[in-house]
Amino acid sequence: TKDWNGIDQVVLRNPQGASARVSLHGGQVISWRNDLGEELLFSSSKAIFKSPKAMRGGISICFPQFGNCGSLEQQGFARNKIWTIEDDAPPLLNNDIRGKSFVDLLLKPGKEEPKCWPHGFELRLRVSLASDGNLALISRVRNINGKPFSFSFGYHTYLSLSDISEVRLEGLETLDYLDNLCQRERFTEQGDALTFESEVDRVYLSSPNCVAVLDHERKRTYVIRKEGLPDVVVWNPWEKKSRAMADFGDEEYKQMLCVDGAAVEKLITLKPGEEWTGRLELAAVPSSFCSDY
Ligand code: BG6
Repeated sequence: TKDWNGIDQVVLRNPQGASARVSLHGGQVISWRNDLGEELLFSSSKAIFKSPKAMRGGISICFPQFGNCGSLEQQGFARNKIWTIEDDAPPLLNNDIRGKSFVDLLLKPGKEEPKCWPHGFELRLRVSLASDGNLALISRVRNINGKPFSFSFGYHTYLSLSDISEVRLEGLETLDYLDNLCQRERFTEQGDALTFESEVDRVYLSSPNCVAVLDHERKRTYVIRKEGLPDVVVWNPWEKKSRAMADFGDEEYKQMLCVDGAAVEKLITLKPGEEWTGRLELAAVPSSFCSDY
């Protein structure tokens, strides 16, 4: 299918009725539904579907810079580019596609990148929907140039919630974090699961490979598993920042939380010919914690 700008979208479905929609604009996942048809990712009612900006919601790919601590545009350029579908993508290390519906996308440097980011790269993204409805995103960055380069990366993931003040985030207890992305001062999280009552924008460092977001009202738990992504960025703009964003409703901060598997604090460096892989897997289940898996 195509969006309002004529840009292709790919719809993945599983036999039970779950689905995911991926846009070639940014390689962004713009919808993920369970087998009851319930939307699991937040999208703003004021989202602007207009090139070259990313839509406010879903899961966007932040590369080669996460956030604004660098010389590039906020969250890097990958989410603002048109990707292509790759029919014959090189196989993944664990290329298990049984029972999965998937699409392979590719981004290479365009006309502008040699100026703002002069590196030879290939960025591949596989989005797959499993028979149990789990959504997986696997990104691979390859250095196809003669010189090393470094980057940060993030899956900017907007989870849809019933009420932010009723939500708990488990798995980040006792970790060190940077408060606000570019700040270098470290703090240490307390022993309890995170709850939310004001703006938050933090990078949790050296995080476990599984965290969970519990939405009590909906009796739904999002289980987020990741590999190759040491950090977790947690973001909610709360009241004041929400009002300042043109593509975000004033009250919408109550219905979302961004929990981003990311590599922010330490840049990833690739020598010529090297490849890096970062995986994210999301499950939305009626149970309670990662140990249930
Ligand atoms: C978060 C960042 O991931 O995304 C925040 O930590 C940022 O600093 C937020 O403000 C939203 O970013 P954007 O570019 O999608 O508006």
